[in-house]
Amino acid sequence: MKITYYGQSCFLFEWQGKNVLIDPFISPNKLASHINVDEIPADFILVSHGHEDHVADLVSVAKRTGAQVISSYEIIQWLGKQGVSNGYPMNLGGAKDFDFGWVKMMFAAHSSSLPDGSYGGTAAGFIIKTEGKTLYYSGDTALIADMKLTGELFQIDQCFFPIGDNFTMGVEDAILASKFVKCNDIIGMHFDTFPYIEINKEEAVMKFKEAGLNLRLLEIGETIEL
Ligand code: NI
Ligand code: MN
Repeated sequence: MKITYYGQSCFLFEWQGKNVLIDPFISPNKLASHINVDEIPADFILVSHGHEDHVADLVSVAKRTGAQVISSYEIIQWLGKQGVSNGYPMNLGGAKDFDFGWVKMMFAAHSSSLPDGSYGGTAAGFIIKTEGKTLYYSGDTALIADMKLTGELFQIDQCFFPIGDNFTMGVEDAILASKFVKCNDIIGMHFDTFPYIEINKEEAVMKFKEAGLNLRLLEIGETIEL
């Protein structure tokens, strides 16, 4: 599968021939000024929660592409009011098969409101099973004991964890989260976008390495094959 990083917590995945975008926040991101959001393809858009740094480009990309948006019931309702009718609502613990793979909505310990102050339901993460792999995109979250159960229920091949601290897990907690879910391969997200979440990237990679874990930090615009 192809994975392209667009900064903060935004990734574009190619799964079973479909383009799946997660948490589109690109145009306000100074670190992503070389990315043209109007050129990003999407058949589906997954949204973990309603905060600006996850939905800034959601309405425009959804309208331009006609992509189906998969998110909490409350965010899908809100999107309807913004003129985006192709939404698919889920809630915590629910799972569903889509054209690109199987998705389960997981608990995330975080808040969720939309940019206009509307209630966004509960913040969430996703387990995605596709192309023979199991991925865990935690969304914005604190370290939670539930991750131990996640590690028992799934054999996770690749995690996507926030490491910027302040609003989410920092490096130390993300290392514990990786142990809880029994996954050695982590792609970091939610760092450096704002002064609040600036980190020392080399130190972060080193700390994961010392814990026997592989933290990968992608350049914005970089595409990797997994
Ligand atoms: Ni957030
Ligand atoms: Mn965030």
